Amino acid sequence: MALLSQPYRALIIGSTGTIGSAFMELLQEKTSCIECIGLSRQSAPSIDYQDPNSIQAAAKALSSSGPFQLIINTIGVLHSADWMPEKRLEDLNSDQLIELMKINAIGPALTISHFSKLLDPNHSVMATLSAKVGSIEDNRLGGWYSYRASKAALNMLIKTASIELARSKPNTALIALHPGTVNSRLSKPFRGEQIGRPPLDAANDMLKVIEGLNKEDSGSFISYSGERLPW
Ligand SMILES: NC(=O)c1ccc[n+]([C@@H]2O[C@H](COP(=O)([O-])OP(=O)(O)OC[C@H]3O[C@@H](n4cnc5c(N)ncnc54)[C@H](OP(=O)(O)O)[C@@H]3O)[C@@H](O)[C@H]2O)c1
Repeated sequence: MALLSQPYRALIIGSTGTIGSAFMELLQEKTSCIECIGLSRQSAPSIDYQDPNSIQAAAKALSSSGPFQLIINTIGVLHSADWMPEKRLEDLNSDQLIELMKINAIGPALTISHFSKLLDPNHSVMATLSAKVGSIEDNRLGGWYSYRASKAALNMLIKTASIELARSKPNTALIALHPGTVNSRLSKPFRGEQIGRPPLDAANDMLKVIEGLNKEDSGSFISYSGERLPW
């Protein structure tokens, strides 16, 4: 039985990002979604992965707005003004590795820790955007060391949390969701405008996948097409 029964209340974390904004736009138009709250560095309360305390504080501030049947976390980084993804071993540096672990793995894990308490215990889904390049088995091209490693760490954290939640909240699914290549701020330096899909198309596809999830899908790494990805 599908976990996202209707009507549902949604929370988008990273709501000012390209894919996060597309989810906001999509869900605000869905009659089945009775409320869609956006959380970001700019919102009140705010969430900033440079300040881990903001994660718990935001969850606490939103606890009276729940329970949520759907939480989607879209926060993630690939590049910054100071660095681009590493092409070779000699590009590796501790600052970049630490930064990507902080934003792509530690922040999302703490978000699962604090926000899973806001999930509806009767039926709910929490999807965290990962990336297919975080798949260890699928890694054929190499490169992008810190991004790949941070998303692989994220995947392990989601899988581990899903096993714990299967005991305490058996009607909840925690998944790692791959959006595909999307035309966004993140993909822009990598020909994202040419090869990426429109963010609204990606959000639509991912919502269809989410709508079809049942509790047995918890702890899966799933693509926007519904394909199960190898860890
Ligand atoms: N685009 C793709 O082709 C693609 C492919 C595979 C996976 N993904 C994943 O999809 C997710 C969304 O990416 P996108 O393409 O929408 O990129 P984006 O437009 O750059 O959005 C990134 C989001 O992360 C937020 N963020 C960055 N640093 C943060 C911090 N320290 N604290 C809180 N929020 C922070 C941004 O907030 P601000 O708005 O405040 O900057 C924004 O909401 C990411 O997890 C990414 O890894 C994307």
